[in-house]
Amino acid sequence: MAVRNIREIGDEILLKKAKEVTKINERTEELIDDMIETMYEANGVGLAAPQVGVLKRIVVIDTSTDEEEDGLLVLINPVITDTEGEQRGSEGCLSVPGKTGIVTRPEKVTVKFFDRDMNEQTLEAEGLLARAVCHECDHLEGKLYVELVEGELMDVNSLKKDEDEEENGEEA
Ligand code: NI
Repeated sequence: MAVRNIREIGDEILLKKAKEVTKINERTEELIDDMIETMYEANGVGLAAPQVGVLKRIVVIDTSTDEEEDGLLVLINPVITDTEGEQRGSEGCLSVPGKTGIVTRPEKVTVKFFDRDMNEQTLEAEGLLARAVCHECDHLEGKLYVELVEGELMDVNSLKKDEDEEENGEEA
């Protein structure tokens, strides 16, 4: 496994649509392992393949906070099939370092995807996990959360000074 370079806003690959994965070969396995390592190393809660420069429909997510808990998800060719409600909250992205902004997302999503063995799975997610699924699926469409931000894109550092701040955006 290796940590890969995370592409940042301004890099055209982040605006391109990723292609479906049709089979898992050694290269794909290596990519997934590297994405997991890269996400953890960057303290992110999610990472999509285009963020490491690969236009494949693969995302990794881990929104678990307890280190004992195994919250790692690998979603291949994910498709959101249903959404419910809405949540308004701060969001961030490893490709837009140091920034955060308010984005409204569904409170719950149903997502169909393939796991690493290419078995089809369905996941019902809510709260932060639902937000992460939406954020990462947008990356596969070449969309960044900055397009969805309500009001100003803010500096994470300026927010840290404000002790009343509920929670800084998780980076994905
Ligand atoms: Ni992101």
